[in-house]
This record gives sequence, C-alpha cells and structure tokens, in this order.
Amino acid sequence: MPTVLSLETSCDETAVAVVTLNASGFEVIASRIASQVAEHSKWGGVVPEIASRRHVEAIPHLLSEVLEDFGQPVGVLDAIAATVAPGLAGALMVGSITGRTLAALHSLPFLGIHHLEGHLASILLTKNPPKPPYLVLLVSGGHTELIRVEENCFFKRLGRSHDDAAGEAFDKIARLLGLPYPGGPSIERVAQNGNCHAFSLPKGRVSRPEGGFYPYDFSFSGLKTAMLRQVQSIKTGGASLPIEDLAASFEQVVAEVLVERSMKCVQDQNLKSLVLVGGVAANQRLRKLMKKRAESYSIEVYCSPKEFCTDNAAMVGAAALKRLELKKDTFSSLELGVCPRLPLDQSEFLYDQEPPF
Ligand code: KG4
Ligand code: ZN
Repeated sequence: MPTVLSLETSCDETAVAVVTLNASGFEVIASRIASQVAEHSKWGGVVPEIASRRHVEAIPHLLSEVLEDFGQPVGVLDAIAATVAPGLAGALMVGSITGRTLAALHSLPFLGIHHLEGHLASILLTKNPPKPPYLVLLVSGGHTELIRVEENCFFKRLGRSHDDAAGEAFDKIARLLGLPYPGGPSIERVAQNGNCHAFSLPKGRVSRPEGGFYPYDFSFSGLKTAMLRQVQSIKTGGASLPIEDLAASFEQVVAEVLVERSMKCVQDQNLKSLVLVGGVAANQRLRKLMKKRAESYSIEVYCSPKEFCTDNAAMVGAAALKRLELKKDTFSSLELGVCPRLPLDQSEFLYDQEPPF
C-alpha cells in the first residue's frame, strides 16, 4: 500500500500529512495545519515575507507531530511530495526544500505537486469519489476555474475568471464591509441573518471580441464596483450599513453565477458529475444551491470534505498517490525549483528529469 508524506506551503497555511492508498481508497493517516490567518488578518491579506518566515517556524513542529501520529520511520514511506507551483515563491520554497531534503536523506522519490492538482485530488478523500470524466468547479482565493477531468490526470480548463478569483472577491468585499480576513467565512457568518434579495447586484459576464459572451468564464470586478457604490451611497445618506443584507446579497449572487455557469458547462460537455473543490467550496449557500439546481438536471454533485476545501497537505498527498497509481516510478528531479505561476495543463513538466525551473 503506497504511503506518502506531503507538504503544503504555497500561501498562508503550513500543512503536513501522511496519506495512503489501500483497497478501500485514499486514507489520511495524519494531517496537521498551522494557519497564519490571525497574523495576516491584521494587514487585510497575505504578506508574502511573513508567510515564508512562519512556514519555516511551523514546519519542524508539524513534521514531528505527523510522524508521531504515523508511528513509523520516514524510511518506510514510498515518497515525499510537496507543492511547488503555483503560489508565493518564498512560501513554496519552504515546502519544496523541506521535501527535497527529506527525500535525499532517506533515499526516497520526491514528487513536486501542482497546487490545483492538489485541490482537484481533495475529492478523492471522500468515501465514494466520482469516476472520470467529470467537471470540477475549483473556487479558491487564487483561482476560479471550470476543469474537465479525464482518466490519467488529464485536465482541460474550460472556464476561468478574467479578474479576481471568487475567494479574492469574498476577501475584498469583507474588507469593504469591515469584516475580518479571510472574507469567505466572515461573510458567510453574517449573511446567515441577512436578506439575500435586499440588493440587486450584477452577474458579471465576459464579452467575446467577436460578439456575445464566453459562456463559462467569470468576472467579479463589476460586482465589486456595484458593492462599493451601494456602500458609498448608504454612507452618504447617513444611514448605518445593513452589513447582514449586503453580505447575504453578495454571497447569493456569487453562488448563482458559479452555479449557472457550472450547470451550462456540465450539460454542454455531456457530463453527469460536478465536483466542487477549493476554499470557497466550503460555502454552505454555494453547496446547497449547486445541489438543488443539479438535481433538476439529474447531475450528481460531489463536494470536497469541508476540512479539505481550504489549503491542506492531505490533498497534496492524494495527488501524489494518484500520480504513483498511474505510473509507479513517477518522480521529480531533486533539482526542481518552484514556480509562482504555472497553468494546470503544464503539471506534467514537474516530472521531467530536466526540470523547466
Ligand atoms: O483554497 P484556499 O484555502 O487557498 C487558495 O488556494 O487560494 O482558499 C482560500 C479562499 C479565501 O479567499 C477565503 O475567503 C475563501 O477561500 N473561503 C471561503 C469560505 N472559506 C474560505 N469563501 C466563501 N465561503 C467560505 N465558507
Ligand atoms: Zn489553495
């Protein structure tokens, strides 16, 4: 039964896990996350320099806790995996160097993992994961993408955001409303008591140069501007901000846009399963609306477990195990560095023995 130690340090969570693949599927043996959220929230967003420093401080403790839970020496593992792209360069470097050092010391293969492939693999940590082909809506702080997943780790991006990612929009609107970072959970919390139809907000579309719209693409900049105007006009009128109604209306329109474009895409692609992953996939309104809408089209919705929606190392381990299941001797060069930007369809390059970066 292949077992891997995995590391995730691409942004503001330091995470370490041990994951195995046995007859009943992917199993998380140990998983630890040290969140830096409290520290970054003072600045209203992630400060790259602080993130790297905190990763360096947290990783030794997390490693020893995870290995204690695992209860066996590193040498019995089958591989070491770490996220190497995309993300903050300095932050990625911490996990990558730790992973490559462990691999070299224990003569184990090292697998550099694409962060989005990790998010996609988080669905494998459910009891009954879907069978490819299926469509994934990946919604995080850095990405909003519709991806068709085939067998053999073959991914095709069909839709994307042309400006902010959905999570980024949550974070910015939370800031506008005076709510703490990260914005998604803050907005979700106050929106529970709000009227989601209190404000009429735009569902941004992206025009095609030849006319019409890209059917599966997203834009959140118009929505952000509309929210800003609402807030300004309420403040100018001297009234206090109806934070709960504003939060609920914003959350509702984001969920509707994500659901409508996903439903169109999954049907046009003749697929029967839709998978929801990434930090924003933890949002209850989005999960509920997606399931309700999908039911009427007989489409099955699979959601990542909430604990594995936001950044974690278990999903990175699952992605590595999937690669190894596909090809037993997959490994990355120990010379492989990190890359802040890398499209998902270039993740194959991470296993070139002459690495691209
Ligand atoms: O996947 P993730 O942990 O990191 C990235 O790879 O970006 O996603 C973080 C994002 C943040 O923007 C955060 O505000 C958002 O996910 N998020 C949520 C919720 N929980 C986290 N957005 C909406 N509702 C939530 N419950
Ligand atoms: Zn992420």
